Amino acid sequence: MSDPSRPAGPRIIAVANQKGGVGKTTTTINLSAALAEQGKRVLVIDLDPQGNASTGLGIDPEARDYTTYELLLEDVPLDEVVLPTSSEGLFIIPATVDLSSADIELISNEKRSFLLHDALRQTAMDAFDFDYILIDCPPSLNLLTVNAMVAAHSILVPLQSEFFALEGLSQLMLTIREVREAANPALRIEGVVLTMYDSRNRLSQQVEMDARDNLGDLVFKTIIPRNVRVSEAPSYSIPVLSYDSNSKGAAAYRALAVELLEQHAAVAV
Ligand SMILES: Nc1ncnc2c1ncn2[C@@H]1O[C@H](COP(=O)(O)OP(=O)(O)OP(=O)(O)O)[C@@H](O)[C@H]1O
Ligand SMILES: [Mg+2]
Repeated sequence: MSDPSRPAGPRIIAVANQKGGVGKTTTTINLSAALAEQGKRVLVIDLDPQGNASTGLGIDPEARDYTTYELLLEDVPLDEVVLPTSSEGLFIIPATVDLSSADIELISNEKRSFLLHDALRQTAMDAFDFDYILIDCPPSLNLLTVNAMVAAHSILVPLQSEFFALEGLSQLMLTIREVREAANPALRIEGVVLTMYDSRNRLSQQVEMDARDNLGDLVFKTIIPRNVRVSEAPSYSIPVLSYDSNSKGAAAYRALAVELLEQHAAVAV
């Protein structure tokens, strides 16, 4: 199983944008599912008290005995918090609304920014042999998001193809710079992915042009179209890749996974 082109341990990607409703959770779920479909072992960490990634991947609230909260604040070991999903190779650490108090509880903790980082360094991690860990961040630049940025190798930023899309990006970039300086110098930007793109809408095209002008190669070639099947899938508790494998949304997330894997293969050479 050992692959010389792979760094030791999983690649950890935080999916972050403090703007709400831009497609963070949708991208976390479906990119993870697409990576798992490619034969990778993938862990989703739900770091949002809304628990949308947990629901979208079919984890009943009653089944969330141990969650990200217990991992971060009660030292519950990794093997007790990781749950399988209905997709092969795809696992999740779920979240509940309990996590909403974590942001405040963390403030008085000396290691407040490093709790996720330290939890993932556990040797228990080795037993899972994950290739990728995707962290679904809340719509805020709070301590939870900072924990994700400290633990991660890179940040993936979903950008909704709408007016004001780029607003707030400078704040996000500033936080990334601060985390680099204070805790995680190697933190990279994995890329920016345009979501909910409507090719008939001039505004979508304008946002794409602005994003590519301003961010250049950071913007993924793959664009995620607005697709009703993508928005329906979570209510069936499965990724769109399982819900409607032939949909445009499923195809787009598969293409994004391939682009990401190619990027990583190129870096590893
Ligand atoms: N490609 C798409 N096509 C259609 N609907 C989409 C698409 N991507 C996301 N949506 C819908 O847009 C809404 C917001 O998406 P999502 O929950 O992924 O955003 P988010 O950034 O995680 O939100 P929050 O900031 O609240 O965590 C959801 O209802 C989702 O189903
Ligand atoms: Mg979300």
